Amino acid sequence: MDDLKSSLSFAQKEVDKTIKSLLPNGKGIEKKLYEAINYSILSMGKRLRPFLVIQSSKLFDVDEKYAFRVASSIEMIHAYSLIHDDLPSMDNDSLRRGLPTTHKKFNEATAILAGDALLTLSFQVLSDNLTHSDPRIRCELINELAKAAGTSGMVTGQMMDIEAENKKLGIGVITRIQRLKTGALIAFACNSGSILGRAEKKFKFALQGFAHDIGLAYQIRDDLLDATSTTKKLGKKANKDKKAGKKNFVSILGKDRAKKQLEFLANQAIKHLGVFDQKADMLRDIARFIVERNK
Ligand code: IPE
Ligand code: IPE
Ligand code: MG
Ligand code: MG
Ligand code: MG
Repeated sequence: MDDLKSSLSFAQKEVDKTIKSLLPNGKGIEKKLYEAINYSILSMGKRLRPFLVIQSSKLFDVDEKYAFRVASSIEMIHAYSLIHDDLPSMDNDSLRRGLPTTHKKFNEATAILAGDALLTLSFQVLSDNLTHSDPRIRCELINELAKAAGTSGMVTGQMMDIEAENKKLGIGVITRIQRLKTGALIAFACNSGSILGRAEKKFKFALQGFAHDIGLAYQIRDDLLDATSTTKKLGKKANKDKKAGKKNFVSILGKDRAKKQLEFLANQAIKHLGVFDQKADMLRDIARFIVERNK
């Protein structure tokens, strides 16, 4: 796990450098927008999704500079999703990554626009020929990210998450919510390595299986942490989901069974990686990290 920690912090530093180089700057009356973008994306997140892009790209010897750009573009989508997720009309949160949420630090209009800006900038980055020399690969990345982030993925998941509050729902619908709101973007992060590296089908499918399992596992761990950890440790408000009537594996199965399901998914994820040699060890470690993480 020491290797994983240093590898995660290397990814964080490198991706943050790339993100900084891609962010707009301005001094005019619109300057608050750029400050809000910087504030939201460059705060201390784990950079899990960028890490998955980098590690899945490594399996296929993808040029690092391409992987860093794709990693940055996914982190932009993720940062936008958190800004909007925290808004008063959504989860109404005032703390994120140990800091005031974007709408609290600035104001709601600025937070909405910073989210919009990051969403669109993400696709601007992917479409640029610096992201890959082959336009077909760029186009596939754009298409897959649009599906993962939009109505076939995260946005629909977020709508379902809100609509599900205080309703009686079965495990099937709840699984779908978690897979869409969180799993889809994580799946794209892994899939982007296969796209950039023009991976053979058997490798691409193996990574997809891995991503499918860790995506759901990641949200289960988030929900367990909400139920069992503290605001101080998490850097975001703990014990909030129950009060908000959120529907997730913890609310439907209870903590113990949710934990078992999380472990089952992480083990299954690792099994999917059987087709890879030790090059996939960091991905195996990340599956364990998802079960054990405290933040
Ligand atoms: C939080 O994501 C929201 C979920 C989808 C679970 P992360 O736990 O990856 O948040 P950061 O980026 O590390 O702050
Ligand atoms: C967020 O899930 C999923 C997103 C798509 C942003 P949560 O609402 O549980 O994430 P946190 O707990 O606020 O980070
Ligand atoms: Mg939410
Ligand atoms: Mg939330
Ligand atoms: Mg949560």
